[in-house]
Amino acid sequence: LAADPKLVINPDQPGPVIHRNIYGQFAEHLGTGIYEGMWVGPESKIPNVRGWRKDVVSALKDLKVPLVRWPGGCFADEYHWRDGIGPRNKRPIKINTNWGGVPETNAVGTHEFFDLVEQLGAEAYVNGNLGTGSAQEMSEWLEYMTGEGKSTLTDLRRKNGRDKPFRVHYFAVGNESWGCGGNMRPEYYVDLYRQAVTFLKTPEKNRPLFIASGGHDARTDWTEVLAKGLKGVPFDAISHHGYTLPTGKWEKKGSAVGFPEAEWISTLAHTQRVDEWVRKNTAILDQHDPARKVGFYFDEWGSWYDPEPGSNPGFLVQRNTLRDALLAALHFHVFHAHAERVKMSNVAQMVNVLQAMILTSKDQLVLTPTYHAFKLYTPFQDATSLPVRIDDNPVYKVGAVEMPGLSATAARGKDGKLYVGLVNANANQPAELTVQVGSTSPKAARGQLLTAAAMDAQNELGKAPQVLPQAYEAQAAGGRLTLKLPAKSVLVVAIEG
Ligand code: AHR
Repeated sequence: LAADPKLVINPDQPGPVIHRNIYGQFAEHLGTGIYEGMWVGPESKIPNVRGWRKDVVSALKDLKVPLVRWPGGCFADEYHWRDGIGPRNKRPIKINTNWGGVPETNAVGTHEFFDLVEQLGAEAYVNGNLGTGSAQEMSEWLEYMTGEGKSTLTDLRRKNGRDKPFRVHYFAVGNESWGCGGNMRPEYYVDLYRQAVTFLKTPEKNRPLFIASGGHDARTDWTEVLAKGLKGVPFDAISHHGYTLPTGKWEKKGSAVGFPEAEWISTLAHTQRVDEWVRKNTAILDQHDPARKVGFYFDEWGSWYDPEPGSNPGFLVQRNTLRDALLAALHFHVFHAHAERVKMSNVAQMVNVLQAMILTSKDQLVLTPTYHAFKLYTPFQDATSLPVRIDDNPVYKVGAVEMPGLSATAARGKDGKLYVGLVNANANQPAELTVQVGSTSPKAARGQLLTAAAMDAQNELGKAPQVLPQAYEAQAAGGRLTLKLPAKSVLVVAIEG
């Protein structure tokens, strides 16, 4: 008989702080991610503040969204910032060639984006255009956003309604430059980055952290070439992307709902590989940057399924189920475990696109299981990570695919409490774990549990939600605290005593 699993937390060896930006979001001009989903315009009957939907902003504020990346993605390398300033009815209409070939009205531009992040109380991550733009265009955009004194561009910003500079926290030079951002070789990108960043000047107190566009998935060549080649120029982080596809194949990714258990486990096992991708890439960074000044930002991640039948395939619409909640939690655990280097991650994407927090239709809105996973984990923002392990972790196996059944993370929250996050990936078997903190057995645990009857339980517009957090409590008995996790569940608790 296998021994019962045991969760062991070491509270005396605190690790790095889990940067709140690990819970960052990504909003691209893609499908109804921004237009309709968040931006309805000031004239809309849907309640809004200067064009941004009140219900969506309020739900996102409850998540304590720390950071928003904009305007892309692939869109960023075709975006020209001057199209998005001045009177909205005079802005040029372009074709969104990346995403469905639909008209891009440019109704959301620089001023609207900063209005959104200021409403959310979030930091701004602006992704510059290297692919079809230039060092000059990026440098002028930065002057427009951050310039303080008198210049034609800062006067233009004032004329467009903004006196004080916008605070730009992060600025990226291109996106996926190995692919949609220009199909470049990393060596070529290094030269372009070095040239561009030389001209990206701002007042010192509004200097963004500069992000270089890195690789994806298991690839390490971009990290290697960038880490070597970007010495001596402003370079604060490498961005890296990695999506989870149930089948691992782009041609037929797998369905968002109605999938077999084989695709439940293949999806979650795939997500666990993110750990290996981060480990390999950060090991390379450690060789070139032992002081760990350069961040490794996982600024696009999430599930990517076959598009919702009947939807525009270029809009990347997909359902969101309990599986996505587990997938999100497993990502958090990986990022927490690498918090010394991973100081930002951005789920793709915020609303209506890929693994969204929120789905909307007209004036309706629904909070997805992913939203609830993010909500459960808010105490981990800026918490101090703690070493944690699971002894006798049961193996979960379906066909030829296997993975650890349980996954855990632990941290000391800013409120001083000890938080634990747990995932039981097994679709059928509940689990019981005893908890040990240092050499003691705690007295109780209180928090929230996310689970549902079906693997593809979802929250649909106009229907009763199937995936909602439930209050959870456990008390020690016989000197032992045992946490009971239902099959396919996520649990976040504060440990007491
Ligand atoms: O998130 C959707 C797309 O995925 C982004 O635009 C791109 O960067 C990535 O390939």
